Amino acid sequence: MQVRKAVIPVAGLGTRFLPATKAIPKEMLTIVDRPTIQYIVEEVVASGIDQIIFITSEGKSAIENHFDFNFHLDAVLKEKKKVVLGEELNNISNLIDIVSVRQKKPLGLGHAIWTARNVIGDEPFMVLLGDDMVLSKTPCAKQLLDLFDEVGESIVAIQRVPMEETPQYGIVEGDKIDRDNTYKVTRMVEKPAPGTTDSNMAIIGRYILMPEIFTILDKTTPGHGGEIQLTDALLALTKQRGMYAMEFEGTRFDAGDKMGYLKAIIAYGLRHPALGKQLKEHLQKVVATL
Ligand code: G1P
Repeated sequence: MQVRKAVIPVAGLGTRFLPATKAIPKEMLTIVDRPTIQYIVEEVVASGIDQIIFITSEGKSAIENHFDFNFHLDAVLKEKKKVVLGEELNNISNLIDIVSVRQKKPLGLGHAIWTARNVIGDEPFMVLLGDDMVLSKTPCAKQLLDLFDEVGESIVAIQRVPMEETPQYGIVEGDKIDRDNTYKVTRMVEKPAPGTTDSNMAIIGRYILMPEIFTILDKTTPGHGGEIQLTDALLALTKQRGMYAMEFEGTRFDAGDKMGYLKAIIAYGLRHPALGKQLKEHLQKVVATL
């Protein structure tokens, strides 16, 4: 069993970033020199996946255009002899095969994933949430794929969070297995009320799912916030077949949150080959004058 396809839901309205996201998708907000969605797509490519399925909605065509070939721009750059820039743009459109499916109603993350069922078919697949950006030595998606090669079952990426933040996440309970940072899931709950779980293992937006998730999602009724929750379907899949949780190596940024987004800009800026050194010096000066 090989994981060949990755689903990236991009249908969300981005209300947390208004007014910036009034006319552009939140996935197109820039971190240093590329939109956040490009980092996610590059993570997928670096992990050896063959195809991406974007789950889109109205007003998201800028994302499709970003990964398409822009004939007009290409001609203009050629005429102006901007060869390197032209090549860089072409490389983006050649990164990977991309398919889009429309989520017709905003019924929740579980429903968004369900809309990919006909494109995925009967094989395991990966899900990546665009708000969660991970800086790591080995791409986070690849870390999950390596575990999948060993266990051949569904996997969720997790991170320990402060106990008071658990109501913001899907929370996993599980038993440690004989492998570093890996757990067999026993229970999971979407955005638990304070005091209802002892676990601080939060689901971060990277999953590998067995195709049975689709028949479970067919029957999943609205849960937290009145939405069809992926986490509710994952709990049913855990009971039906089993599920693993893996604490990945790397730093995660919540780019869907203003502070998380600012932190991501600084972290990615500091690692940028051409800008990092200068940015570090500048930040040191700014901090010294506070
Ligand atoms: C979604 C998932 C949640 C997960 C989170 C990670 O929630 O439903 O289980 O912990 O992503 O970012 P959202 O942040 O979309 O409310």
